[in-house]
Amino acid sequence: MPDPTHFDGMAELYDRARPPYPDALWGRLRDLALLGPGTRVLELGAGSGLATAPMVAAGAEVTAVEPGPALADLLRRRVPDATVLAGTAESVALDAAAFDLAVAATAVHWFDLDVVLPRLHHALVPGGHLAVWRHVFGDPAVPRTPFRERVEQIVRERGDVPPRPGPTELDTAGWVDRLTAGGWFAVRHVEELRWSVEVSARQVRDLFRTFSEWTAAEADAAGRAVEDLGGRVTEHYVTPLLVLRRAEVPGR
Ligand SMILES: C[S@@+](CC[C@H](N)C(=O)[O-])C[C@H]1O[C@@H](n2cnc3c(N)ncnc32)[C@H](O)[C@@H]1O
Repeated sequence: MPDPTHFDGMAELYDRARPPYPDALWGRLRDLALLGPGTRVLELGAGSGLATAPMVAAGAEVTAVEPGPALADLLRRRVPDATVLAGTAESVALDAAAFDLAVAATAVHWFDLDVVLPRLHHALVPGGHLAVWRHVFGDPAVPRTPFRERVEQIVRERGDVPPRPGPTELDTAGWVDRLTAGGWFAVRHVEELRWSVEVSARQVRDLFRTFSEWTAAEADAAGRAVEDLGGRVTEHYVTPLLVLRRAEVPGR
């Protein structure tokens, strides 16, 4: 199992290297009337604030929970208008019916959902929502690029690595099942946003170093691949978005 404290050991790098979430995501949350001025948001696993800052900019009152002390410190400096709580999704103190929206951005796969889902049900108002999304770096629906062939080669050379427990990152149906288990939440909206970005060798080295399953040597090899391919490559990413409605009567 990868180490959930991995990101805290590289807080500044994480903040610099990870791309922002696509504008279409924020537009969809607005269209669904989930995010706007005065929305009380509980964000779990907020990291350095890549999702926190746009939510505060949209006028939301964000309470951001982050267990890593270096990340929490960076988050406080980067997004001073958010309330930052040190703690985990499983143990942070949460008042009843205190939030309209709970958010986990590239974080839900770190949580013990048997513990966290009932806690979120308790913390949300009736009619409240849980929105879960993530970065998936590499879109399997796009024909494999020369850079992606090199990435696959690096991963193949790693040999057999035990798979992470739970659904894989693009198993959206598996995540819907996982997030509706127990009947605490029901599906409202599911979508996969697809987007592309051009990146340099340096950006690739930095970004791949932030991946919990990648070594520094492997990230360097990915950067060399970009150099071999002319110094810049286009990457195709996916952002699965799952919006769940708090069940009025849990278990139904
Ligand atoms: C990949 S980062 C995502 C950070 C941020 N949400 C973003 O979009 O960039 C995963 C985050 O989850 C946090 N995390 C790991 N286990 C957690 C837990 N049990 N409860 C809350 N946060 C956790 C990590 O410290 C890290 O900040």
